[in-house]
Amino acid sequence: MAKIIDGKAVSAAVKDALKARMPELEARYGRRPCLCVIIVGENPASKVYVRNKVRAAQYVGMESRLVELPERTSEAELLSLIAELNADSGVDGVLVQLPLPRHIDAQKVIEAIAVEKDVDGFHVLNAGSLWVGRPCSVPCTPKGILRLIDSTGVGIEGKTAVVIGRSNIVGKPVAKLLLDRNATVVLAHSRTPDLKSFTLQADILVVAVGKERVVTGDMVKPGAVVIDVGMNRRADGSLTGDVEFETASQAAGWITPVPGGVGPMTIAMLMENTVDCFLAARVSA
Ligand code: GUN
Repeated sequence: MAKIIDGKAVSAAVKDALKARMPELEARYGRRPCLCVIIVGENPASKVYVRNKVRAAQYVGMESRLVELPERTSEAELLSLIAELNADSGVDGVLVQLPLPRHIDAQKVIEAIAVEKDVDGFHVLNAGSLWVGRPCSVPCTPKGILRLIDSTGVGIEGKTAVVIGRSNIVGKPVAKLLLDRNATVVLAHSRTPDLKSFTLQADILVVAVGKERVVTGDMVKPGAVVIDVGMNRRADGSLTGDVEFETASQAAGWITPVPGGVGPMTIAMLMENTVDCFLAARVSA
């Protein structure tokens, strides 16, 4: 039976460490880091995520701003708000919650955020820097996943890691982070034939597809570290991951629960990225 990777506990430790640094940062730089979160429209899941991000910022003792815009907001209006925030020296991090309404080009919006305030690490310059090994904002979920793996004490170097899902937000960056730690990485996806033949080789298995039961217990190598990035809402309102927990936890050595695994870590890493942007702006000033 697998040990549970407690994302809530690991994220709480990260947030507490940041919280402890706030008085020193304020004394040294005259103010605390400030995160601005923007949400457009009424997507219920996005509203919950955004609320949790602002709550975490408050817990850590950072300044935060929440801008809630109506669904009908135009792309031009959103771009103009971002330009204002880019120019605002009191704001260190700008995050636009995705997905955006269909009439807004998300990529254009992401590229409009100043690269040095891109706490999500989604800007093409941050994504490119990650791939060529330059300093950058690393996307929060992949960064959190690496911390969760490290929290198990299982080494990454030399291991076979299989990532299922090739999104820009999770799959691609987490594959690069695992590669940087000298894992041998397979990046599998919805068109991978015989997925099981790959997953059975995985010492580390990261599943980020957005569909229930993509991985079942018979697909898990005994003793593997299984990271479930899925957040699927069932008809009864409950949350479930991409991995069938009941069977996978019989085979795995370590496994993340949903909820309480990757989700809280994403938010803790966002706090860390905001502090890093704040500090980078002060060091380079
Ligand atoms: N939507 C789902 N995940 C994320 C994330 O990490 N950042 C943003 N901005 N939107 C998201």
